[in-house]
Amino acid sequence: MRHHGQMHVPRLDVAGGPAPEPDDTGAADQPHRLPRVTSFRTRRSTLSSGQQATWDRRWPDLGMQARSDDGKPVVDLDTAAWFGRSAPLVLEIGSGTGTSTLAMAQAEPDIDVIAVEVYRKGLAQLLSGIDRAGINNIRLVRGDGVDVLEHMIAPASLTGVRVFFPDPWPKSRHHKRRLLQPATVALIADRLRPGGVLHAATDHSGYAEFMAEVGDAEPLLRQVSDSDELPISVQRPVTKYEQKALAGPDITELIWEKRP
Ligand SMILES: C[S@@+](CC[C@H](N)C(=O)[O-])C[C@H]1O[C@@H](n2cnc3c(N)ncnc32)[C@H](O)[C@@H]1O
Repeated sequence: MRHHGQMHVPRLDVAGGPAPEPDDTGAADQPHRLPRVTSFRTRRSTLSSGQQATWDRRWPDLGMQARSDDGKPVVDLDTAAWFGRSAPLVLEIGSGTGTSTLAMAQAEPDIDVIAVEVYRKGLAQLLSGIDRAGINNIRLVRGDGVDVLEHMIAPASLTGVRVFFPDPWPKSRHHKRRLLQPATVALIADRLRPGGVLHAATDHSGYAEFMAEVGDAEPLLRQVSDSDELPISVQRPVTKYEQKALAGPDITELIWEKRP
């Protein structure tokens, strides 16, 4: 099988990261996976019986792991076969409980959305929402968004990438854990089609500056505003994360398009 692209994304882990916690990322199911810098914390979570029932019923069709049980990445995802149609494709990395995913997919039924999250309970909440609302244009991947971009997604195939409230990793020694690093932004830019959009939001001013620098330094991207004509909506609903008042009052929205 062909692996997409030759881009190198840093993989080695660092000292000084957070202490290991009980794992709910799927990484425990992946014994051969190399240690690496990750942008996520591991969290334990138990599904309610209703969530588990929905998971058992819908996950086989609507969800997949980014890596198989023996740790091998899934490669070259056939999105047209998975969605049963060819439509503009958006990848949301770190979808949390899926509030934005659900609302934005409902508002744009002609766009297909893949939600990537490591947190199983969040995916289960999104799956239950999809089930209740009868939505057909969302699929879910459990795993690391960088893995998904690297192995599953073809170059120039995405119309949009959404990253809403990524973990800010405020301490300087943890900045290398931030999801939107130069290498990851370069990978996102490669996977976007010309004119495709990277839309990021954060309530952390330090991360906002960091993101702006990283995105503006990427030669394939140029910053645009929400008043420009864009191929996807950048109208974002208030997410669970914001509702919980974890977010500060100042939210920075950053939008780039891939240069033609
Ligand atoms: C602060 S939460 C925000 C969730 C959601 N976007 C919102 O606005 O409510 C960040 C989420 O990103 C997820 N995450 C962090 N790094 C990730 C990665 N590399 N791949 C997939 N998910 C990731 C975390 O598990 C967490 O659920």
